[in-house]
This record gives sequence, structure tokens and C-alpha cells, in this order.
Amino acid sequence: MITVEKTPTGIAELDRLLNGGVPKGSATLIAGGPGTGKTITAAQFLYNGATVYNEKGLLVSFNESAQIFKRFMLSLGWDFERLEKEGKIKILDFISIKKMSLDVLLDMILEESRSFGAKRMVVDSITALTIAFTERVEVRATISLMQKLLRRLDCTSFLIAETPWGEDKLGSGIEEFVADGIIKLETLPVRGELRRRLMILKMRGTSHDMKFYQYVISERDGIVITPYPEVV
Ligand SMILES: Nc1ncnc2c1ncn2[C@@H]1O[C@H](COP(=O)(O)OP(=O)(O)OP(=O)(O)O)[C@@H](O)[C@H]1O
Ligand SMILES: [Mg+2]
Repeated sequence: MITVEKTPTGIAELDRLLNGGVPKGSATLIAGGPGTGKTITAAQFLYNGATVYNEKGLLVSFNESAQIFKRFMLSLGWDFERLEKEGKIKILDFISIKKMSLDVLLDMILEESRSFGAKRMVVDSITALTIAFTERVEVRATISLMQKLLRRLDCTSFLIAETPWGEDKLGSGIEEFVADGIIKLETLPVRGELRRRLMILKMRGTSHDMKFYQYVISERDGIVITPYPEVV
């Protein structure tokens, strides 16, 4: 049996559910509603890569400026400013990208990632990226270009997909099929309070857990997944 090489996320329990991590070089969609912890999960993947696994990480942000992101992360005790200075993390924010064509943007990401030597990449979010370009290029074309870019990179990536509140769908209906894996994050009302839960919907090339797991977002540790599945 050929075993697939894994990239551990470093998030306790998640790596166990993934039998060691996500396949090296794969692209995983982190899909979820507002405030479900998508950015924190992806940031943890980069932070652990840089601090534990000696893998450089690139964050491509269409949602938050690098400065706001770093301040947010510091509230969780993760000093991305220091990692940036140490050359372990690179942040590219494209808050105003209106003047750039999609081809130029993707080439720039490719070039930055290669010259930096990134082994992990996060795009926050694929939804914001497609919205920014749908006027000129269709969503399908954007995602297929993104997929081509990812294949040319020597990176394991997390792509964030934003699901509107109260909707059951994940992304636009295209990236779900293009991505190698999908991790879904949810907030659900249970007896007068919101509970967070996570599940792995798909992960090409590896077996994985299929149950629902509750998680919390902790001030010190970020995403903390309970070791036992939900009892239904
Ligand atoms: N310092 C903190 N300590 C504990 N929990 C926090 C902290 N900061 C944020 N949170 C929790 O994390 C949530 C936001 O997480 P995150 O930004 O990763 O979500 P998101 O899914 O990326 O949201 P969006 O769709 O708005 O981008 C907040 O709604 C809050 O519940
Ligand atoms: Mg976010």
C-alpha cells in the first residue's frame, strides 16, 4: 500500500481525525458561516507550520489588512509580526485590488510563494477573491485559474469559503468539487445557546473520520476540538 505523505495541521484532534494531517500538496476548503473560526483555523495551520514544523507560510488575504490580522492574532497569543520578521511567515493583503487583473494577481501570488519558499498557503477567502473578479471573469474561470496556480506551487493550502448565515450550501458550488478536501465549521443553536461543530466532508487520498465534533475557540489555544464525537 502506498501511503500518502501528510502535512499535520498541528491542531490537536484535527490531525487525529485526518489520520495524521491533510495530504501534502493538497488544497482544503475551510467552509463555514460568519464567525465560525475559519480565519483562526487557517492561521493556526500557518502558525504551527512556522513554529513547530519548520515550514514557511504565506497568507493571501482579501478580507483583512495584514495589520488588522496581526492584531487579531496577537489577541490569541500568536505573534505573527515576529514570525514575519524571522522570515517564517509572509502576508500579502489585497484589500484594494480593483486595478489588477486576475492573471496578474495570480502570477504575483505564484512568484511571491516561490521566491519565499512557502510550504503552506492560506487564501482568506476564495469567496472574496471570486466576488472581486466576477464582473470580468466568471467564478468557474477564477477557480480553475486558482486551481492551476495551486498545482504549480509546492504548497499545502487552506482555502477559506464563506457560507452566508442560515444557508446550507458551502461555497459557490464549484470550489467544493475542485478542492481536494473540505472541512466544514458550523454554529448551531442548541437549547438557547450556540454550539460550534466541525466535520470533514471529504479528503481525497486518505481515510478520515466522518463524525461531528464540537469545538470551542479558546483565548489561549484557538480551535480546541473535543475528543469525542457528538451523540445524536
Ligand atoms: N481572542 C479571542 N479569544 C477567544 N475567542 C475569540 C477571540 N477572537 C475571536 N474569537 C472568536 O472567534 C470568532 C471569530 O473567528 P474567525 O475570525 O476565525 O471567524 P471567521 O469564520 O473567519 O469569521 P468571518 O467569516 O467573519 O471572517 C469570533 O466570533 C469569536 O467568537
Ligand atoms: Mg475570517
